[in-house]
Amino acid sequence: MKLKILVTAGDGIGPEVTNEAVAVLKDVAAAGGHKFAFDAKRIGGVAIVNDGTPLPEDTLKTALASDAVLLGAVGGNEFNSLPPDKRPEAGLLKIRAELGGFANLRPAFAFKELAVNSPLRPEIIDGADILFVRELLGGLYFGQPREWNKTTGESWNTMRYTKNEVARVARIAFKLAQGRRKKLTSVDKANVLEVSQLWRATVNEIAAEFPDVTVEHQYVDAMAMHLMNQPRNYDVVLTENLFGDILSDESAVITGSLGMLPSATIGGKVNLYEPVHGSAPDIAGKGLANPLGAILTGALILRHSAGLEAEATAIESSVRKVLELGFRTPDLARSNPQGFTVLSTTEMGAKVRETVKAALVNA
Ligand code: NAD
Ligand code: IPM
Ligand code: MN
Repeated sequence: MKLKILVTAGDGIGPEVTNEAVAVLKDVAAAGGHKFAFDAKRIGGVAIVNDGTPLPEDTLKTALASDAVLLGAVGGNEFNSLPPDKRPEAGLLKIRAELGGFANLRPAFAFKELAVNSPLRPEIIDGADILFVRELLGGLYFGQPREWNKTTGESWNTMRYTKNEVARVARIAFKLAQGRRKKLTSVDKANVLEVSQLWRATVNEIAAEFPDVTVEHQYVDAMAMHLMNQPRNYDVVLTENLFGDILSDESAVITGSLGMLPSATIGGKVNLYEPVHGSAPDIAGKGLANPLGAILTGALILRHSAGLEAEATAIESSVRKVLELGFRTPDLARSNPQGFTVLSTTEMGAKVRETVKAALVNA
């Protein structure tokens, strides 16, 4: 199996966590005789500083010529006063748009070993296994017009969707639900927004193509509450862009830390893989970042871009095993730190690699 992977590590903890994910992928390639070629290019704040733009041409060109793109995170406090189109985040939005993936899969499942790290009671989160399908190229992030008019003191963004944009992401979500527990919860604000009424009507239309999947609709405000009260109730959760951004970070409370969540964006020219978390300037450069979300993102590359399901599962099981053995990064050891072995980012990466290698040898 040959795979060309572009790594755009970005800012803050981006390079720290992607280094660990790449090291795991290299071990998997070596064990299976696969040829994974890695290239590295700049994006985000580091690209603004070096190239004068958050998404250099060279990065985009290489991304479009790759089989998969692994992105760390972008953003930094020094850029906070810039307008949206000049910020590191603009580079991320541009690469998403250019690669064309519109279905952002954000799995969130409860690790029983991390239950102690969650403010939710173990009996609430135990067994929770949710797949968020977040529409990634529409809604408020991309809708026109958008402006902050400093003369009039007005400002607006536009939440816009076409029926086709809703239908294509809904179809992917329904198909994924068919391979899981056959339940789809669509999230909207159809009691207030026309765009959500289009969303709901379109989801209902597509539902007719998937009679074996049970559909329900929830308003986003109630959904935020239900997710914390009864996370086990949900299987596939389909959302528009901003609602998915918010609810997927909320679901970090179920998994124990934002540093645990991976994502894969499919449906476009080249799949884009990103941990859900950001550049975490508060802990960057200190070896404190949890690399497991990035490592699990690496597993998604193997699953969705390489068809290496056994290897993807080996990474996921190894993460579980390492947690079972009591190894933690600091974000996972907020309760009972003395009961765990607290590791740095690179030490945690090494632990996972050791376990993955053993799993692949025994397979
Ligand atoms: P954040 O996700 O960077 O951090 C939120 C909190 O979670 C922080 O306390 C941080 O220390 C912690 N955290 C996040 N990832 C962690 C990890 N792997 N291990 C341990 N702790 C972790 O969100 P924020 O602070 O709101 O944003 C910081 C910057 O990141 C902003 O510029 C934002 O725009 C950007 N951002 C980028 C992405 C991305 O590139 N995909 C995603 C989200 C936020
Ligand atoms: C995410 C991030 C991004 C988003 C930002 C940094 C543009 O929060 O990937 O969840 O809102 O999509
Ligand atoms: Mn987010």
